[in-house]
Amino acid sequence: MAKRIREHWGSRIGVVLATAGNAVGLGNLLRFPSKVAMYGGGAFIIPYLISMLLLGLPLMWVEWMAGRYGGLRGHGSTVGIMGTILKGKLWARLLGVFGVLAPLLIVFYYIYIESWTLGYAVHSLMGNLPKPVQTTDTAEALKPFADFLKTYTKPSFEAYIFFWITFLLNWIVLHRGIRRGIELVAKICMPILFVMGIVLIIVIFTSKGTHPEWSAMKGLEYIWKPDFSAILRGDVWVEAAGQIFFTLSLGMGAIAVYASYVKEKEDIVVTGVATASTNEFVEVIIGSSIAIPAAFLFFGPQSISELASAGTFRLGFMSMPAVLNSLPFGFFWSFVWFMLLFVAAFTSSIALTQPMVAFLEDELNLSHKNAVATSMILILIGAHLSIFVNGYIDELDFWAGSFMLIFFGIVEIIFFVWIFGPNNFIEELNKGADVKVPRWVAYITGTITLVFLTGIMIMWFSQNFQKALMQEGTGIWLARITIFTLLGILFFITWITTGRNDA
Ligand code: PHE
Repeated sequence: MAKRIREHWGSRIGVVLATAGNAVGLGNLLRFPSKVAMYGGGAFIIPYLISMLLLGLPLMWVEWMAGRYGGLRGHGSTVGIMGTILKGKLWARLLGVFGVLAPLLIVFYYIYIESWTLGYAVHSLMGNLPKPVQTTDTAEALKPFADFLKTYTKPSFEAYIFFWITFLLNWIVLHRGIRRGIELVAKICMPILFVMGIVLIIVIFTSKGTHPEWSAMKGLEYIWKPDFSAILRGDVWVEAAGQIFFTLSLGMGAIAVYASYVKEKEDIVVTGVATASTNEFVEVIIGSSIAIPAAFLFFGPQSISELASAGTFRLGFMSMPAVLNSLPFGFFWSFVWFMLLFVAAFTSSIALTQPMVAFLEDELNLSHKNAVATSMILILIGAHLSIFVNGYIDELDFWAGSFMLIFFGIVEIIFFVWIFGPNNFIEELNKGADVKVPRWVAYITGTITLVFLTGIMIMWFSQNFQKALMQEGTGIWLARITIFTLLGILFFITWITTGRNDA
């Protein structure tokens, strides 16, 4: 069969912005501050930074290397990439299925939450959000916002409309392809994202709190003052490592698929570092300087763990609009906040869908248009379950947003470092690079990173497994049925297409 032409990114800066858009998402602006607050500020930061160096950067290079290697041979999904490395061996391709399944499951709920941010942005602008009450009682101050969120996500009719708008926007961009879709959107959205983030930091750091003792600076101190006492807590390590995976889009083939569209000569060593550092800039600089300092300013230090303990949404959808709406021109700042979230989420949800698109295109030889349509219809079904069935989102997040990433991270290291060969890994990675990565990095990745990750996996199991299996409820079962059905379908497609597109 004639080799199909795969698209390439248009420019160097386009590659960097697109992958940065992939990585920068709700994880940076909502999940990170919530986790930091939940696990006690400075206690979280040490395991987080160590995980960044030991897991984040090495896996980032692994996925860039794998992606470019596969892309040059006509494969962008981990199914195809792992297949090419072992000359089309079925078991390698089947393992790769997790790099298509995990992002697809995540986008089922990610896209719905993304649509809330758009809905909230419009509500902010129209002045429809509740008026903040002047009180120092956190619970009382947040009550109107909590009620608003509850009514909105019930779901309300508008929530459903905004879901459709978000869904169609994703479809359009993916349909337009790599260069005219994903890259173009990243070039427009990423600069806007930086500007909005910095504007909000300025607004928060120049505002006066409700109490003379409370300041935004104290919020930053709370995050960055290291607390060594937590260093032996397994749960903190599991969460910190999990956050690194989630925020850098690692362990699910999402970086690899973007890397598969680079040209042969691209310097992926630098691009990998650029992706990771842009993401970390948005996470530790912008992400830490907004939600937590704002909450400190208005609700004081005692409120912070209470705010965060109720989950990811409390800081973003309750305390932030409560704070921002009480400032002069509050409606506008609140609009900027939700647009910031929306833009960040949008460039990530398209990245979560692309592995499935590439899988259908490269393995099943569907046309681009049909591959996008098929993926979007699956997402439509999954998102409806997320919207209407209680407990569905949490169960998907638990398996796809945490377990599968760690699991697939281990698979990637064993596969791309040991099975492919440490020398091959480094050689491939260094092709076209100005500054070469030394060989020992492969051995560190293959040993220390692998042992570290395996330790995280074991801790994950000992903390979660029993609890997870005892869960009951319709949403839980529907989520499990979804996971197994999709796994079956993807295995089947992988099986029947094995040997089809390999040279
Ligand atoms: N990294 C994104 C975030 O921080 C989430 C994501 C994961 C996006 C995987 C694409 C692929 O929100």
